[in-house]
Amino acid sequence: MVEEIYQSTKQDREKWIEEKDYNLFNLESHKVFIDLLTDSGTGAMSDKQWSEMMTGDESYAGSQSFLKLKETINTITGFKFLLPTHQGRAAENVLFSALVKEGHVVPGNSHFDTTKGHIEFRKAHAIDCTIDEAFDSELIHPFKGNIDLQKLENVYQQYGKEKIPFTLITVTCNSSGGQPVSIENIRQVRDLSNQYEIPVFFDGARFAENAYFIKERETAFKDKTIKEIVLEMFSYGDGMTMSAKKDGLVNIGGFIALNNEELYKICGNFGIIYEGYLSYGGLAGRDLAALAQGLQESTEYTYLQSRIKQIEYLGNKLIEFGIPIQQPIGGHAIFVDAVKFLPHVPREEFPAQTLGIELYKEAGIRGVEIGTILADRDPETRENRYPKLELLRLAIPRRTYFQSHMDYIAVALKNIFDRRDEIKSGYEISWESEILRHFTVKLKKK
Ligand code: F0G
Repeated sequence: MVEEIYQSTKQDREKWIEEKDYNLFNLESHKVFIDLLTDSGTGAMSDKQWSEMMTGDESYAGSQSFLKLKETINTITGFKFLLPTHQGRAAENVLFSALVKEGHVVPGNSHFDTTKGHIEFRKAHAIDCTIDEAFDSELIHPFKGNIDLQKLENVYQQYGKEKIPFTLITVTCNSSGGQPVSIENIRQVRDLSNQYEIPVFFDGARFAENAYFIKERETAFKDKTIKEIVLEMFSYGDGMTMSAKKDGLVNIGGFIALNNEELYKICGNFGIIYEGYLSYGGLAGRDLAALAQGLQESTEYTYLQSRIKQIEYLGNKLIEFGIPIQQPIGGHAIFVDAVKFLPHVPREEFPAQTLGIELYKEAGIRGVEIGTILADRDPETRENRYPKLELLRLAIPRRTYFQSHMDYIAVALKNIFDRRDEIKSGYEISWESEILRHFTVKLKKK
C-alpha cells in the first residue's frame, strides 16, 4: 500500500506553524512532508496482516481472533493471561488502577510520559533509576537503557515493599533515546527485587527492538534467535503492558500480559469498565488478528535488521555532518541533542522545540520535542522541570519510508546546522494544560 505525501513551500510552512501556535501536534498531516512525530501506529501492515483483517472474528465473547492472539502472546512472551486494551496507555490505566495507590513510588528506567502521567495522576511518584551514562549523549555504552542497581536499591531501602507496588523496566527505553536494556541488567534487577519482594513489570512497547540489540551487543546471546531472547527477557518479569502500535506492527492496539491469575481477575474488572469485555478490550476482532500476525513478524531477525539499519544509516549521515545526536544510535528514532545543536537558545526558551520548528519550516519534516515542554511542571512546586537531555526526536515509522527520505532528512538538518549561529532565541508558553501539556501547548516567539 502506498500513500501520497504532500509538498509545500517554506512560506506556506512559516504561515501554517504560526497559525498553529508553534505546536507541531496541531498541524494537519497534509501540511507535513515527512512525518517523524512518532513511530506509534504509523507503520505499514504486511500482506499477511491484511489477510488476517479479512478473517477477524467479531464475536463479542470467545472470539477466535482473541484465542489466536492469546496463544501467540503466550508463545512469544511466556505470560499466561491476556487482557487486550485499545492502546498502551490504556493498559497502564488498567494495571495501575489495580496496583498504584496514593503515596506509592514506582522506580524504573526513564518512564514514558503517559506512564509517568498515570502514576502521578494517582498521586504516586515515578523514580528514574537509569544509569548516569544515559544522560551523556556522546558517551558510547551498549545498554544505555540499563537500571542503576545502586539507585534502585536506595529506593527499595527508603520505601520498602509497602510503598513500591512494582519496578518498571521499559524496553527499549524511549525517553533516554530508544536505548536497550541488557539481559544481564534485567536479571540483576529481578534478583534484587526478589530480595525485597517487589514485583517486576515490563513496558514492552519496543521489546523486539530491544531483543535485536541484545543479540547484536550481548555476546552470550549472539547465536540465539530473537524469539528465544524475547522469551528469556520476559521470563524475569511478572507481567507487561504493551503499546502494540510499535512492535505489534499495528495501527492501534495494546495489552496487558500477566502470570498471576488473581491480578488478572482484578485487572479484568477495571478492563471491563474502561476498555470492554475481557476478550476484546476496545479492539475489533480483526485488530486482534492483525496484531497476532504482527508480533510474529516483528520478532524476526531480518525484519528488525532492515528496520534498525535504516535508522543507523540516517544517524551515521548526521554524525558525518558533525550534528550532535544521542549515541549509540537507538532503535526507533534519532535523538538530536538540541542544547549542543543550538547553543545560543537558552533552556527557558525550549531549544528542542525551537529546533523542531526550524526543521519543519526548512523541509516540512515533523519531529517531536523530548525536552522541557514534555517534562512538564513539578506537580507540587509547579516549576518547569529541566530534564538532563533536551532532545528533538525523529521517530521513524516502521516499513514506511525509503533511503532517499533518509537522505532528505539528513540534508535538511545539515542546512539548519550550517546556519545555527543565526538562531539566537526560542519560544515562550502562552497557554498550557494542567497535565501532559506538550500535546496542546500554545507558544509564541520570544
Ligand atoms: N510506553 C512507551 C515506552 C511508549 O513509547 C508509549 C507511546 C507508551 C507506553 C504509550 O502507548 O501511545 O499506545 O498509548 N509512545 C508514543 C511515542 C506515543 O511517540 O513514543 P500508547
